[in-house]
Amino acid sequence: MERKKFYITTPIYYPSDKLHIGHSYTTVAADAMARFKRLTGYDVYFLTGTDEHGQKIERRAQAAGKSPQEFVDGIVEWIKKLWQALDISYDDFIRTTEDRHKAAVQKIFQRFYDQGDIYKSKYEGWYCTPCEAFWTERQLVDGNCPDCSRPVELVAEESYFFRMSKYANKLLEHIEQHPDFIQPAARKNEMINNFLKPGLEDLCVSRTTFNWGIPVPFDPDHVIYVWLDALSNYITALGYASEDDRLMQTFWPADVHLIGKEIVRFHTIYWPIFLMALGLELPEKVFGHGWLLLDDGKMSKSKGNVIDPEELIKRYGSDAIRYFLLREIPFGADGHFSEEALLHRINFDLANDLGNLLNRTLAMLKKYFAGTVPAPGQSGSLDEELRLAAESLPGQIEALMDQLQFSSALAELWRFIARVNKYIDEAAPWSLAKTGQESRLQSVMYNLLESIRIISVILQPFMPRTPERIWHQLGISADKHLQTWESILTFGKLPSGIQTAPGEVLFPRLELSEKDGTPVRQATKKDKPISAAKEVQEKVEKQNLISIDEFSRLDLRVAEIKEAEPISGADKLLKLKVDVGGEEKQVVAGIAKHFAPEELPGKRVLFVANLKPAKLRGVLSEGMLLAASDDEGNLVLATTEAPIKSGSRVK
Ligand code: MSP
Repeated sequence: MERKKFYITTPIYYPSDKLHIGHSYTTVAADAMARFKRLTGYDVYFLTGTDEHGQKIERRAQAAGKSPQEFVDGIVEWIKKLWQALDISYDDFIRTTEDRHKAAVQKIFQRFYDQGDIYKSKYEGWYCTPCEAFWTERQLVDGNCPDCSRPVELVAEESYFFRMSKYANKLLEHIEQHPDFIQPAARKNEMINNFLKPGLEDLCVSRTTFNWGIPVPFDPDHVIYVWLDALSNYITALGYASEDDRLMQTFWPADVHLIGKEIVRFHTIYWPIFLMALGLELPEKVFGHGWLLLDDGKMSKSKGNVIDPEELIKRYGSDAIRYFLLREIPFGADGHFSEEALLHRINFDLANDLGNLLNRTLAMLKKYFAGTVPAPGQSGSLDEELRLAAESLPGQIEALMDQLQFSSALAELWRFIARVNKYIDEAAPWSLAKTGQESRLQSVMYNLLESIRIISVILQPFMPRTPERIWHQLGISADKHLQTWESILTFGKLPSGIQTAPGEVLFPRLELSEKDGTPVRQATKKDKPISAAKEVQEKVEKQNLISIDEFSRLDLRVAEIKEAEPISGADKLLKLKVDVGGEEKQVVAGIAKHFAPEELPGKRVLFVANLKPAKLRGVLSEGMLLAASDDEGNLVLATTEAPIKSGSRVK
């Protein structure tokens, strides 16, 4: 069967300063995608690099008392080390100051000129140097750059212009006929309505008031506009217009250009038009993701709230950072970054859900089977459900990844991890051991180990280091065939007889030290394998105790009841609309015997906000009100002792 190709790019970064954690976001996402495609059998080409020309860099170099080349060289080295520390598996790193790029860009410019797409004139208008973008008076917002809100400069200089207007209709047609070309859809509409429909102005594509750029081949007083220079990297890296363009033949068009939302205009208007002028196919998809925000707006150096990725990796390890970036924020939307939120994900998702699953399982295996993977024995009714969940997982993950929904893909994987944790509680291996049900115990332990293997295989693109650590403990480090995507499509590929090696805790639970705010390991019993905490385990089973972590999985909120109405044919039920901090939810509550619908609106009640949606009598219910009832049939709603905002967290 012919292997499919996949070409993915990140933007090329300005080496004007060190990068912050927001920059890592695009690259980590692209890397996860590239790794995922490799894992699922594609020939992948993953490109990143640096965008080194332009007025911004020239000024920064001057301020640093260095030549531009000297200035960027240092930062580019730093960026490469950062990508290494984050396990970014790029196939090529292109620098726009390399000869291979400069020569190809000059050929592109010459071709545009020769075919009449470029003409010489005079530019008079505004320029935003941080964004390297031209703006008309009409486009400014309060006299500032509409993209970054910073001041713009008035520019008047001789320039070459590209006839954008010649291609605008063709581009509009393409966008309309290819609904997936610009994603998410809201960004597509913005491009159509704000830029294409009002009429596209010709673009200034050369500058004369500074030197740091690629000279226009036939008019060396001009340097090529940095965005035309930069965008071309996506094809010059593949050898376009060079003697060896085999990569171009194999990988163009790009399958995904992954970029931040503020540069969607350059990638979905100017870039496709340049490509059309070159007679090349357009990329399949341009995805403009949201920003990583600190509490006071977009994270940026100029606003002084840099979060240093090097320091974060040192504190938490690259896998945890990658997991946080991919999981916390639905891809496409803006999201917040804070160390507390990161810590929360580490302690709950990584230490508790994933780490503990491995720990508990291997500790039990050691106790019951001396650490050797048993052959499955007698099957039970719980097993089939687990097997079906495991076998449907790869398909679900693949579908979500094809939509670049990293966060949902990880949520799906963690739903499975929760399912496996629940399987332990339901199958209760300790009871099977106590009652001598050896054959059944074999099956349960086997199913747990196989589920962990499946989880570790799926984890690879997101957290490249953790699977290796899991395989080491499972005793399958050398068994490459047990680490492939194919090996998880059917449940049961893990051979019996393997000797496991329980080892270090995967992710210790952390807290920020009171002394200096750095993370320190929490000292809890949690870190110890359960065999050492037998008494606690027994108590937990007998009294049905839950841990504080299990409790905190509940998302309890204050909700305000907005509407209530009866449900026909269900005399105990009411259908309610509640407001939870601005979000409306529908709930079916069994309180009709105790309240008339008109009594309820305005009441603020305690509400379980993260209950799986269910249908009751065919009506969707997205949560649960808390209420207390006694033996005499009285029922009262659990409300707050004093008024407090709806959406407030209850803990
Ligand atoms: N050099 C241009 C891109 C040229 S591509 C032909 C550029 N460089 S950049 O260094 O400013 O930004 C690189 C990427 O980092 C962009 O995708 C940008 O959106 C992303 N991010 C920078 N800050 C960010 C956040 N705070 N959050 C998420 N992504 C952010 O633009």
